[in-house]
Amino acid sequence: MDRKKVTLPDLYRKKAERRPITMLTTYDFPSAQALDRAGIDIAFVGDSYGMVVLGYPSTVPVTMEEMLIACRAVARGTQYAFLVGDMPFMSYQAGVDDAVRNAGRFLKEAGMEAVKLEGGRTVAPVARAIHDAGIAVMGHIGLTPQNVTQLGGWRTQGTTAASARALLDDALALEDAGCFAIVLEKVPDRVAQLVTGRVGIPTIGIGAGLHTDGQVLVLHDLLGYYDRFLPKFAKRYTNLHATIGEAIASFRSEVEARTFPGAEHSFAIADEEWARLLQSLQDAPLA
Ligand code: KIV
Repeated sequence: MDRKKVTLPDLYRKKAERRPITMLTTYDFPSAQALDRAGIDIAFVGDSYGMVVLGYPSTVPVTMEEMLIACRAVARGTQYAFLVGDMPFMSYQAGVDDAVRNAGRFLKEAGMEAVKLEGGRTVAPVARAIHDAGIAVMGHIGLTPQNVTQLGGWRTQGTTAASARALLDDALALEDAGCFAIVLEKVPDRVAQLVTGRVGIPTIGIGAGLHTDGQVLVLHDLLGYYDRFLPKFAKRYTNLHATIGEAIASFRSEVEARTFPGAEHSFAIADEEWARLLQSLQDAPLA
C-alpha cells in the first residue's frame, strides 16, 4: 500500500469517521522505527522520558536539552508518524515569550511537527500564543503529572460533577485557543466520552476509557520495560525487562564458561601469515 505521512487533516478525518487514533511515546531511534513501521499515527516524545529512561522520580526534573536530544533521535527514526514533542516543566509556565521560544526549538532544532503542554484554562493563553506563532499545539488535561504535588498525588480527576464540569470547560478553552487535540489522562470513562462529544478536536485518552477519539500509552509500560510501577490504566503487552535480563544473564554465563565468542563471532589469520609471524618471533625474539 502507498503509505503517506500522517498530517493534522488525517487526525481530524479519523475523529469525523470514528476511526481510533493511535499514539505512543518513544524516546530513541530504534523504538521510533518500530512504532513507525507498526503504523502508529502519532509518535510522541513525552516528558515521561525523564522517568522511564533517565530514572528521575517524576517528570519535573526533565530539561529542554534532554527532551531535544530524544526528539532528534525520534525524528531520525520516523518517516510517517506525526511527531509531537512534550514541553517539559518550566519551559512554558514562566511567560508566554519563553513558551513560544521553547516551542519553536522543538520544530527548528529537533524535527518535531507539534508540541504538547499540560493544563486547561490557565495555560490556554500560552497555547494560543504558540498556535498564533504557527506551531501546532496539543493540550493535556485530567491528571497532569507536572502538577502531581498540587493535585495531591496520582489521583483520578473529574470524579465529581463540579470537577468534571471544570474538565469540560478546560477542554473547550484549549480548543478555543487553537489546540489540535487534547490528551485526557486518568478521568472517568463517561466524563471522557462527554468531553469527546463536546469538542470538535480529537481527544486522546490514557486511563480515560474506550470512547475517546484515540489512545496513548507510555511505550515502556506497554513493553514491560519499566518495572518501578505500572499504572492501572496501562496494559503490559510483553515483559521486556525480564527478556532483557535473561539475555544479559546468558551473555554473562557464556563468557564465564568460555562458550562466547564462538567461531562464527571470531576472525582468522591466514596460515602462511601465522607461520611467518611465528618465524619472525624465532628469528628476532622479543627483548
Ligand atoms: O509524558 C507522557 O508520557 C505523557 C503521556 C502520559 C500522554 O504525557
